[in-house]
Amino acid sequence: MSENAGEKKIEDLPGVGPATADKLREAGYEDLMAIAVASPKDLSEATDIGEGIAIKIIQAARREADVGGFETGDVLLDRRKQIGHLTSGSKALDELLGGGFETQSITEMYGEFGSGKTQIAHQLCVNVQRAKSENGLGGHALYIDTENTFRPERIIQMAEGLGMDQTEVLSKIHVARAYNSNHQTMLVEKAAEVAKEFPIRLIVVDSLTAHFRAEYVGRGTLADRQQKLNKHMHDLLRIGGLNNAVIAVTNQVSVKPDAFFGDPTRPIGGHIVGHTATFRMYLRKSKGGKRIARLIDSPHLPEGEAVFSVLEQGITD
Ligand code: GTP
Ligand code: MG
Repeated sequence: MSENAGEKKIEDLPGVGPATADKLREAGYEDLMAIAVASPKDLSEATDIGEGIAIKIIQAARREADVGGFETGDVLLDRRKQIGHLTSGSKALDELLGGGFETQSITEMYGEFGSGKTQIAHQLCVNVQRAKSENGLGGHALYIDTENTFRPERIIQMAEGLGMDQTEVLSKIHVARAYNSNHQTMLVEKAAEVAKEFPIRLIVVDSLTAHFRAEYVGRGTLADRQQKLNKHMHDLLRIGGLNNAVIAVTNQVSVKPDAFFGDPTRPIGGHIVGHTATFRMYLRKSKGGKRIARLIDSPHLPEGEAVFSVLEQGITD
């Protein structure tokens, strides 16, 4: 995507005066790119402008922001070459993922309570700060916490386990609590701002789906929920791409009461989450405090399983 998207302001678009610009910003459309990829309906609802005008504004933003659409193979190859891998702390788990958590894509971890999703998320926040030679990405972490389960005390234990300075480690993790699904999606916009100031190489959303699940109940609300989740995930992907960052999200499982055969646990969010996440990992508890991770539907990796442990000093084999 083009650099000059940031240079022009949304006021420079035809039809956008100061009042409309304020409304757009309030609704989270802070730059030309955000408007360029918006739907006319969303834009018009968020700002009380007619859909016809919204279409014109979006078209103008597309021209200015140079959303392009097509990229040549060599440019794509160049971006692919930038892809990095972040260690989980467990060799077996890294191997399952083809070398660790991949940048520029979303890795989803789903599983029942206590299966280790939040523990891995914490560990990634520590590991991302390590040098590339130690399978880190030499950057900061951003953590969107929807369940109030981020624990600095746990980070300290993990940092100590690796002999790292705990104060420094904590200072490179930017945590925000999300109070509802709207707030959660807004925090992704905020994340883009933080990423301008700090080298964010990991974005965690723990949990991706809990607020959506709690707020959208009943059949009639499902389409709306899926659409918002879809947009949320694509916003995350965009930031992950722009910053060459790992996106790690967690997801709960719903036990289907009528699932008599096979595995009765299913991730929340259905096919939307499944199709947007590049890697899906199913975590479950095993004997003696061990955990088993299974890779589900990966485009270029074989399905398989890995065993890892959660110890006081963090995630290991
Ligand atoms: P939900 O968010 O409830 O869906 O679960 P989760 O998958 O996020 O679970 P989480 O990652 O929080 O795992 C919690 C489990 O990790 C605990 O039940 C412990 O088994 C383990 N754990 C957490 N801290 C420690 C620790 O300091 N030492 C050890 N040995 N295990 C720990
Ligand atoms: Mg958790």
